[in-house]
Amino acid sequence: MSNYHIKNLEEYFQVYRKSVREPENFWQEVAEEHFVWRKKWDKVLKWDFTKPEIKWFENAKLNITENCIDRHLLTKAEKTAIIWEPNDPKEKPLHITYNELHKKINNVANVLKDKGIKKGDRVCIYLPMIPELAYAVLACARIGAIHSVVFAGFSFSALAARTLDADCKMLITADGSFRGNKTIDLKGIVDKALEDCPDVETVLVAKRTGAEINMKEGRDQWLEPLMEKASDECKPEVMDSEDPLFILYTSGSTGKPKGMVHTTAGYMVYSAYTFKNIFNYQNDDVYWCTADIGWITGHSYILYGPLLNGATTVMFEGVPSYPDFGRFWEIVEKHKVNQFYTAPTAIRALAKKNLEFVDKYDLSSLKVLGSVGEPINEEAWHWYDNNIGKSKSPIVDTWWQTETGGIMISSIPFVTPTKPTFATLPFPGIQLVLMDEEGIEIKGNQVDGRLCIKFPWPSMARTIWRNHDRYRDTYFSTFKNKYFTGDGALRDEVGYYRITGRVDDVIIVSGHNLGTAPIEDAINEHPAVAESAVVGFPNEVKGNALYGFVILKETGEKRDRDNLRKEINQTIADKIGPIAKPDKIQFVEGLPKTRSGKIMRRILRKIASGDTSDLGDTSTLLNPEVVEEIIKNR
Ligand code: PRX
Repeated sequence: MSNYHIKNLEEYFQVYRKSVREPENFWQEVAEEHFVWRKKWDKVLKWDFTKPEIKWFENAKLNITENCIDRHLLTKAEKTAIIWEPNDPKEKPLHITYNELHKKINNVANVLKDKGIKKGDRVCIYLPMIPELAYAVLACARIGAIHSVVFAGFSFSALAARTLDADCKMLITADGSFRGNKTIDLKGIVDKALEDCPDVETVLVAKRTGAEINMKEGRDQWLEPLMEKASDECKPEVMDSEDPLFILYTSGSTGKPKGMVHTTAGYMVYSAYTFKNIFNYQNDDVYWCTADIGWITGHSYILYGPLLNGATTVMFEGVPSYPDFGRFWEIVEKHKVNQFYTAPTAIRALAKKNLEFVDKYDLSSLKVLGSVGEPINEEAWHWYDNNIGKSKSPIVDTWWQTETGGIMISSIPFVTPTKPTFATLPFPGIQLVLMDEEGIEIKGNQVDGRLCIKFPWPSMARTIWRNHDRYRDTYFSTFKNKYFTGDGALRDEVGYYRITGRVDDVIIVSGHNLGTAPIEDAINEHPAVAESAVVGFPNEVKGNALYGFVILKETGEKRDRDNLRKEINQTIADKIGPIAKPDKIQFVEGLPKTRSGKIMRRILRKIASGDTSDLGDTSTLLNPEVVEEIIKNR
């Protein structure tokens, strides 16, 4: 198993060097030794960042579910593939073996085929964290349909926009979902969304809450009875390496969400290889990632990466605060979790609670802790290290994006010495560069700049669904011949990287990417609103919170402000989802603008954070007087 499991720092450097000097040989070895292929590739890599065009393992043939499931049936048919932990701890967890998973995904795959879904068709999946979500995703992959999972916390209009953009023929959902002590009427949201999506022919509904729901005749059908009738065998569709595997939407700083398209072979090789190394997964380990499968973290590191390695992966339906703030640790003890992967926002929320919630449980099974989604601050890092890892489980701070498909920067546990708040070193194959605003590469150490990647890696998104121009403009036009991440980073004296945050108008709130423009668009839709600007400001738990500055129309001026706030928040919740609601909305007379009419967000960010001591140069403003007014009424 050359290269596959990196064991010490010297080996990491060797492997890294090889991955840069001979990238094709390097990835070829990884791909050859650890996967089953129906046909091997003709060429490992073809690329051109100016178009951009990226092809890995050209002309290879495979099916990713054969690699996730079928090949494990020879040796680990009775091993647990998925431990499903329900929202309510009184309900029994499920242990789904590789054998059962095989049967279930074949059942669902046959149902999809029966409903006319073919290779290349798009299927929207809007499900809570129940086993059917895993079955639906893998069933699509089995038959070559492209899955587009929409996080079940998104609103009806966000769901409609994504369903329409991907032109989905089918939608898979549930009668409802449980989240803590709340029950959510998922099917009601779907019905409302589908009023605008006439091309969805079939809705399959999994039963979860048992709520009374409407079933639209000719369109809606319960999933379980269809699965029961379906055959347990479904031949995997033979896919080309570059056939799309899935679309996953992510917010941009402007405009509509971007449907990032990930393809089959490269994504498979990279998600599997990173999983194995970054979590130091050993054969009988139990691995748990607390993300939702509605995000890329869940795609790559709840489902594909772990299953490709024949791992046992935990899928948790609930929330960290229910029935109390000890829930995560109760689950770690119950399932003897060895690798635990979560987001800094969860760590910060739990760190605010009494340590009794932690100390009640036996966490001695833990070997590796992970963090993802936003920068982890030093305090949270130490709390995690001391109280959860008991200073013996290395923390992997993993930096990556929906677009990158897999982890790009991370320490490797027991290999790379960690340093709080630093994601540390690039993973093999990842060639990072820092650029200045003029487009010049910043060399050397102890520098900071805009983080770019100058060479392709197997799991990079290949395009934006039906919008290749936007893909090029967003990622490949800021810096010539480089993929621009949108993040700033610094490189310390030994070459470790620390991510400093977004340099565009994307704000990360509780680990969720939110573009300011779509939120402003939602606010502006309120009939009383003339204009608005949304910025982020530091929040102890969420990392960032949102602050909305709103100019009212004359008609709005006469209205009650609290009611207006409520209505604006509701508009945002309907258009995007509750996570996009600002913590504060301030009504203002005007917004600080440059002479060319651009809103000076730098000033608004300062005001929002309460730090108005040094607002920098305001002399270039068209309307400097509004700044005083905004500060006064803050
Ligand atoms: O700003 C970075 C931040 O999250 C962004 C990507 O968000 P998304 O596509 O939703 O994917 C999140 C899960 C992979 C990045 O551009 N980010 C992610 N991980 C880290 C991070 N910032 C700092 N440290 C991290 N470990």
